[in-house]
Amino acid sequence: MWASAVLLVLLGSFGANALDNGLARTPPMGWLAWERFRCNVNCTADPKNCVSEKLFMEMADRLVEDGYKDAGYEYVNIDDCWMAKQRDANNKLYADPERFPSGIKGLADYMHKKGLKLGIYLDYGTKTCGGYPGSLDYLELDAKTIADWGVDMLKMDGCYADVKTMKTGYPQMTKYLNATGRPILFSCSWPDYERGAGIPINYTLVAENCNIWRNYVDIQDSWQSVLSIIDYYAKEQDTLVPVAGPGNFNDPDMLIIGDFSLSVEQAKAQMAMWAILAAPLLMSNDLRTITPEYRDILLNKDVIAISQDNAGIMGKRVLQDGDVDIWTRHLEYWEEWGVVFFNNGTTATTVTIKLKDIGFSYILGYDCRDILNNVEFGHIEIEQLRDWHVPAGPGGVLMLYCFDSE
Ligand code: GLA
Repeated sequence: MWASAVLLVLLGSFGANALDNGLARTPPMGWLAWERFRCNVNCTADPKNCVSEKLFMEMADRLVEDGYKDAGYEYVNIDDCWMAKQRDANNKLYADPERFPSGIKGLADYMHKKGLKLGIYLDYGTKTCGGYPGSLDYLELDAKTIADWGVDMLKMDGCYADVKTMKTGYPQMTKYLNATGRPILFSCSWPDYERGAGIPINYTLVAENCNIWRNYVDIQDSWQSVLSIIDYYAKEQDTLVPVAGPGNFNDPDMLIIGDFSLSVEQAKAQMAMWAILAAPLLMSNDLRTITPEYRDILLNKDVIAISQDNAGIMGKRVLQDGDVDIWTRHLEYWEEWGVVFFNNGTTATTVTIKLKDIGFSYILGYDCRDILNNVEFGHIEIEQLRDWHVPAGPGGVLMLYCFDSE
């Protein structure tokens, strides 16, 4: 009896400090300004692409009108460079009044009326990476301010900060966010800064305090960048897979599908891999000008279903065969899987394996479908050697959805 009383007290105090917003049960989906629009604040020279409320409103309109919202993309996220250069007389942050005449509250209202959510960006240090006011010494005030505005998600960056203090500072912010009473999805850059500084990362603590978190360097608009991120997750999978689950996801950074660098095949590869990794699907692209073949990839219902699977299990690389890496993600139901064959080579290739070789063990076999091209493969026994045709790379992918069958 004493033991259970002690346990209750312990659980109670844990509950008060840890993140308890009930959000991100599946990886969050939406749009984030940074990779595409950066810190472009010159609205005189570039009114269409500068960081302004108009940009976020236009993206929100596209999300709703072009099918993205219906597919699950709901967060519209502001990144760096939204603030006025100083805090106000009461030390409160406020948005640059010329670029955000409605203020963040007005923008949040705009999103909510459309059934969307608004995300914002702060920095844990003295300045944001772009040189705008940081939140050090103002964490509590800033948590209250963004909650009052009706913000739904916070990305907290870690420039200009003492990385050694993040293990206590970020959880402090978690407490302040909880105290606002408003559920705010918390995206932390903390582990990425610890990695960069060579400080051991305590992922249990990270998962107690953050819904999603960056592990690795910023994505850039290049295939090389996408590839280096995938390589990092393969290398670190034994550490990263166990910490992911409903409410908590590793964040390999934004989708760059529809930007300047990825071919259509490579765009499919990023989409497929982000689904297998149970990664947030935050697009950073221009939805006003994206072409249909890229839009279709972002709206692929079967790939999104794998991304948004309720079990929230992160996938991993299970086999390498020549230039092809094979990744699997176990889905909610007993023998239901997502699979990606990922071709690093430059020519189309055939991989000849048994389903058993990638960990499938249901004795009566499986049904598999190519979900990028909508081709049924029908019933396959686990001991059956089978040819899998993988398109040319770098970044050619075959993606399967498989389930137990008889
Ligand atoms: C860091 C982050 C990026 C972006 C920029 C903004 O580099 O990792 O995602 O937010 O800062 O300045």
